[in-house]
Amino acid sequence: MHYDHDPKFPEGFLWGASSAAWQVEGATDADGRTPAIIDLNSQTKVPFADNSIAADHYHHAHEDVELMAECGFTSYRFSLAWPRIIPHSDGKVNEAGIAFYNELIDDLVAHNITPIVTLYHYDMPVWVDEELGGWKSRKTVDAFEHYARVCFERFGDRVKYWLAINEQNMQICYGDWLGVDKGCDDWFRDKWRVNHIMNLCHAKAVNACHELVPGGKIGPVPGMVPIYPFSSEPMDQIAAMNAEEFTEKIWNDTDAYGEYSTFLKNYWKNNDIDPGIEPGDEELMKSAKIDFIAVNCYRSNTARWAAANAAAQAQLMNKTGEKGKLIFPTVPGQYQLCYNPYVPYTDWDWEIDPVSMRYVMRYLWDHYHLPMVVTENGFGAHEHKDENGEVHDQYRIDFLRDTVYQLGLAIEDGVEIFGYNPWSFTDLLSTGNGIEKRYGLVYIDATDDELNEAKAAGVLPPMKRIKKDSFHWYSKLIKSNGAEW
Ligand code: BG6
Repeated sequence: MHYDHDPKFPEGFLWGASSAAWQVEGATDADGRTPAIIDLNSQTKVPFADNSIAADHYHHAHEDVELMAECGFTSYRFSLAWPRIIPHSDGKVNEAGIAFYNELIDDLVAHNITPIVTLYHYDMPVWVDEELGGWKSRKTVDAFEHYARVCFERFGDRVKYWLAINEQNMQICYGDWLGVDKGCDDWFRDKWRVNHIMNLCHAKAVNACHELVPGGKIGPVPGMVPIYPFSSEPMDQIAAMNAEEFTEKIWNDTDAYGEYSTFLKNYWKNNDIDPGIEPGDEELMKSAKIDFIAVNCYRSNTARWAAANAAAQAQLMNKTGEKGKLIFPTVPGQYQLCYNPYVPYTDWDWEIDPVSMRYVMRYLWDHYHLPMVVTENGFGAHEHKDENGEVHDQYRIDFLRDTVYQLGLAIEDGVEIFGYNPWSFTDLLSTGNGIEKRYGLVYIDATDDELNEAKAAGVLPPMKRIKKDSFHWYSKLIKSNGAEW
């Protein structure tokens, strides 16, 4: 990428990294935590390791915070595990779970690292699914509100930035990948009911945060993949707009305006879909005013027109990390996604497109005029130690540098952005490819096979932390507030 000047970042810009409880903590049955739906889902992703050990952050939290401080972090975005805090349907608080997060938060604050905390990053307790009906049931809204209130009451004195639900749009779009479609037999229709329940949970959390956390701010976390039209053929532009609506804009509009758009309501009407809206729901949604948008953005997609008689194709993810295994989706009469000839791809067929960060920031700012923080961005790769036990990840440094440059340009464009938290600090489990798909600035010295063997033997491996080259590059960047890049 050509850089024609140095980007500038505002004083107090939050530099950190990001994780999620089920992907980093491990210790899934420690100290009273009960199983989550995502634990069961992760067990289906063989031959990759499941989340019972992950990066074993649960037993290495202090060491990890020390490393963050050494790197110069001023923020850390992580999530709380619902089943660690409320393990059973009696709603009682698990003090051991609270103690783990209290220590982590205290440790961060003592190192001047601002915690940015997600309430929900895919780990619904199994009891919510089995006893209340999970995402299909309105009873879940009360259970989620109770959990959120406990978190705000216990941690809100030190945590001021809250995120409600991670990537609701992606959970609904790819329900089978994360197990959100559990128990639904007609996902085409049922997903809008699940989505509505999630919107009510989101609204309750937003209002409770404002009620219980002095100075607290809360926002949604859309998974943003900007959609470019494949060509200047006019129907490719409509296809890009359709893809954008159905993968992200519907959710952004709902979060920002507190109401369903006319586009979505028409779609429901034309397709005979009942999203299960009851009296009072729309008032609740309207009352929940978000303070900012937390943005996850790794890449872009490209869309071209698909005629009404085109063959439908669901997206099939690349599950191996061998290039060329992704099957793009086709939605007849709306769009099909396709390769972009202008960008390279990772081994998992993700577009390597740092410009997407500037695009997404400009796009969200123009539409919603809310401050933003980057809560995920990163480069997933197969990685190994060399003969000296070091990990040289120049491709990650290149990607992060190009992205930070684009973020700087977005700030110069006038967009209000207050932080950058790439995924991830240490290596951790990917959503479907275990620890083999690595994102960290810090290498975790364990493979999926070793994690599987350790789980079978019931013995925890040492899980040594090794700083990658990107750790050292990022540290210089942070400590100079973006000047040395
Ligand atoms: C984000 C999710 O969409 O992408 C994370 O919030 C996820 O949970 C990250 O890990 C990277 O995706 P993957 O599939 O490579 O793990």
